[in-house]
Amino acid sequence: MITGKTNVVGVIGDPVEHSLSPIMHNAAFNHLNLDYVYVAFHVKRGMAKRATEAMKTFNIRGLNVTIPHKVDILDYIDKVDETAKLIGAVNTLKLEDGKIWGFNTDGLGCVRALEEVTTLEGKNIIILGAGGASRAIAFQLVSSNIGGLHILNRTPENAKRTAEDIKNKLGTRVFAGGLEYLKEKIKDADILINTTPVGMYPDADARPLATADILHENLIVKDLVYNPPKTRLLREAEKAGARTISGIKMLVYQGAESFKIWTGKEAPTGIMEKAILKVIG
Ligand code: ATR
Repeated sequence: MITGKTNVVGVIGDPVEHSLSPIMHNAAFNHLNLDYVYVAFHVKRGMAKRATEAMKTFNIRGLNVTIPHKVDILDYIDKVDETAKLIGAVNTLKLEDGKIWGFNTDGLGCVRALEEVTTLEGKNIIILGAGGASRAIAFQLVSSNIGGLHILNRTPENAKRTAEDIKNKLGTRVFAGGLEYLKEKIKDADILINTTPVGMYPDADARPLATADILHENLIVKDLVYNPPKTRLLREAEKAGARTISGIKMLVYQGAESFKIWTGKEAPTGIMEKAILKVIG
């Protein structure tokens, strides 16, 4: 029951009405009987500063931050944790003692989903795409003692920008290039992560690879696309004998990390996943 004492958390973004975060977080709060409610706030581009002021005014305890505010909002928060600083974007805010803290749980969510099925040490990894999610994952992976990282993207300059940034900030060399490198690089890869929106409903017939015959049984294939839960890429990877990880896992695990930041408690990830599958499964 919502009372005068209920803690309000939520998500800000534009668009935000299709966000699955309210469903998974409210399911988790209910399951653990925590006095929290999670709401979606439609906040338009350019309104990040006002959103942080509103957070303080209304004593909103925590917020997820999504497109288009993940970078802009950095200018208006009080403290940024190390990972978010490296990535240059936040997806989670916490209000504590009147100050707003910023975090980025995207990379952690992906790493946790991968570590559920494998160890990362020494692994050769390809990331397809070079947007915000790719960047968060790349920084997190480089900090995880992996063997090698290749960022391949439709626009090679965007991949090169991330690689350059990683080299400058962490001193690690990362290969960056266009999608034409995929055929060659995938032969020795252990993990392939799709961070592009290709294959997302309603264009679910698409896949981010020109052809499926380069997929092989030594691969673990992770898609960030979660609607549909089993993308064409994942279906074809399974057919090739590869192990697959659905995009729902990262959605849940990045949410679970935010949940922990706000409540101090481990999130019931099984409950969160079930709640999401009920809506899109
Ligand atoms: P996010 O912040 O969620 O990661 P994004 O910033 O929109 O999303 O990034 C999407 C990534 O997917 C980009 O790297 C984009 O490629 P460009 O850098 O060339 O724009 C890539 N992408 C989007 N649509 C694509 C498509 N149809 N084929 C291949 N790559 C695509």
